[in-house]
Amino acid sequence: MSSEVRRAAQILRAGGLVGFPTETVYGLGADASSEKAVVRLYAAKGRPADHPVIIHFASAEQAFAWAREIPHGARELAQRFWPGPLTLILKRSTLAKDFVTGGQDTVGLRVPSHPVARQLLKEFAGAIAAPSANRFGKVSPTTAAHVRQDLGKDVELVLEGGPSEVGIESTIVDLSGAAAVLLRPGSISKEALETVIGSLAEKAATSPRHSGGLERHYAPRTPARMVPAHALDKEISKGKSVAVLAFSRPDERVDFWLRMPREPQAYARRLYAALRELDSAGCEQILVEAPPGGDEWDAVRDRLKRACEQA
Ligand code: TXA
Ligand code: MG
Repeated sequence: MSSEVRRAAQILRAGGLVGFPTETVYGLGADASSEKAVVRLYAAKGRPADHPVIIHFASAEQAFAWAREIPHGARELAQRFWPGPLTLILKRSTLAKDFVTGGQDTVGLRVPSHPVARQLLKEFAGAIAAPSANRFGKVSPTTAAHVRQDLGKDVELVLEGGPSEVGIESTIVDLSGAAAVLLRPGSISKEALETVIGSLAEKAATSPRHSGGLERHYAPRTPARMVPAHALDKEISKGKSVAVLAFSRPDERVDFWLRMPREPQAYARRLYAALRELDSAGCEQILVEAPPGGDEWDAVRDRLKRACEQA
């Protein structure tokens, strides 16, 4: 156990905030049992108080203590995917207070796999509330440096854990109702989930609110547009200064061009750092070449849609 991790656990016990790596994105952690700490967390993020936050645990056993009903499917998913990039929404137990659930009767639970997150959770020996460590509505951080850039003095300590392996937020499955619902696509695909629990319903308009469900989210400051590959050339010809995120080779008329991998997991890993780079290029507009249509691109497509203005 490193001394940094011990210091981080002390900060959490004292009601402070700690940035820490997870396999998906970096989290901004606070003691999930302390209202004061969670209020500070929301203030640092600039997040509305009625938005629920995901609670992180060292083990499934600890996580399930925060739920009052644990359906069979939840145990099976936990068995298969925890520790890992999956969040389960379950009916809350009395441990999950209104200040972490946004006043809802459900709670979001996750057991991350990143070794530094696991060390921190073990050392702290409690539940850590942690949204992504960015300001509300902005691009999530995938390195410790991103967290420092975004949150500056508002975070007492950021644990270093290298670039996030997955690169986009966890898959969220809601098991609090009659049917299992996929609330947020992620690196664990719908198909992989269905092999464990059978068919998953699509997100309904009435599903519980969650900030990942807002139309525009994970957004850079520069206006971004998604265009099909065949329309890229026409957009570039309009002569605006553009920064481009594409699969194809750079066009010599464009000064800032990032070429992305054609494999969805590699694309996801690179995505948020790429959006940050495009944003700091100082162009009038960001152009994003639309990814292919297959299911394996669902999670990437979801994040890109939220980063872009709806055309
Ligand atoms: O990968 C992740 O999940 C990262 C890392 C840090 O673990 N965390 C993350 O947290 O993305 P956050 O707070 O930025 O996004 C959590 C999503 C939000 O859309 C939140 O509203 C939703 O989970 N959520 C949490 N509890 C919920 C609940 N009871 N019902 C519905 N949605 C919930
Ligand atoms: Mg977030």
